Amino acid sequence: MKKSILFVDDEPKVLEALQRSLRPMRREWDMTFADGGAKALEVLAAKPVDVIVTDMRMPGMDGCRLLAEVRTRHPRVVRIILSGHSDRETILKSVGPAHQYLPKPCDTETLKTTIARACALRALLTDESLVQVVSRVESLPSLPSLYSEVVRELESPYGSIQKVEQIISRDLGMTAKILHMANSAFFGLPQHVSSPARAVRLLGLETVKALVLTVQIFSQFPEARLPGFSIEDLWHHSMTTGVFAKKIAKEEKQDPHALDDSFMAGLLHDIGKLVVLANFPDRYGEILHRVRETGASMWESEQAVLGSTHAQVGAYLMGLWGLPDSIVEAIAYHHCPQDCLGRSFSSLTAVHAANAFAAHAPRREEMEGIPHLRMDYLEALQLAHRVPRWREICGELTREEDAP
Ligand SMILES: [Fe+2]
Ligand SMILES: [Fe+2]
Repeated sequence: MKKSILFVDDEPKVLEALQRSLRPMRREWDMTFADGGAKALEVLAAKPVDVIVTDMRMPGMDGCRLLAEVRTRHPRVVRIILSGHSDRETILKSVGPAHQYLPKPCDTETLKTTIARACALRALLTDESLVQVVSRVESLPSLPSLYSEVVRELESPYGSIQKVEQIISRDLGMTAKILHMANSAFFGLPQHVSSPARAVRLLGLETVKALVLTVQIFSQFPEARLPGFSIEDLWHHSMTTGVFAKKIAKEEKQDPHALDDSFMAGLLHDIGKLVVLANFPDRYGEILHRVRETGASMWESEQAVLGSTHAQVGAYLMGLWGLPDSIVEAIAYHHCPQDCLGRSFSSLTAVHAANAFAAHAPRREEMEGIPHLRMDYLEALQLAHRVPRWREICGELTREEDAP
């Protein structure tokens, strides 16, 4: 089925240029061009739209107001700003309502790729109510202690950027959000940033300060606890998976860029659990109950209760936020890598193995079968014989960590 894309700009010449340059896409996309916010809302009320791409400064209703309206009335629509006005205040205003930001002039290829990626995400989540909720998510909860620490550091006249980098790198929610800011061109940074420390450095202390203290891109984890869930355990498992994935990728002689991607994909692979927990606490409780009662795995129970898994939910949100494809893919398929089309070693391979090892302490004395490791997938990649070596190096890391 054709995807429906809505372009909004008050300048007829800009709309004409878009129409001309995107003509080759008309077989795949049903494109509508609106000359203002009011017209765009009329289009949205009349037919389903998958992606909206809007200018920022328009008379009457500006792009931010339009997208805030779209978020409320049509939450499933992917919201992208395409703007030539890049003053900081305007950009900061757009961080909440927009999923992604593209600077004008934007080359046709970038525009096409960004829209195509947003459309492809739809295949990950089929449940409409889940799509609506996840598309509205603006932040992921952070550990209260780390949240207070980063706010204190940013409020202090002596705040240091290194300290801020360290705090953000220790929290899943903050890491994901800061990568969102760096990977979608809100602040005109080079895309494909896979390290939170680099993201903070590129954004600069003043921008991070404005984002955290004024725009409030981070939020705190509510005090209420679910029996059987610990945010600290999730953090520990995520960090271990990230470290293992990087080690495995290094063992397979991947380039430095791929090592960073593997680490970040490992760190974020279970981010969907945070999304579900923060937005569907009751259903999360039901999922945990099912795991305890039936012995089914977490993702099987999620499939039964939610109709989707934390892998799909996490990948969907990270994709909406413009994180690199390699990371989104590794998150989406970390439990079922055989469903991914890629047939060579990738961040997905590293994260799949790392996750299995992290869940089952990979000591050398426990070399028997590892649950959740898809040997059929690894055999298809002709990598099954590498598993003992990967286990060995990850086991060494675990022993180093346990050493007094
Ligand atoms: Fe998982
Ligand atoms: Fe995991």
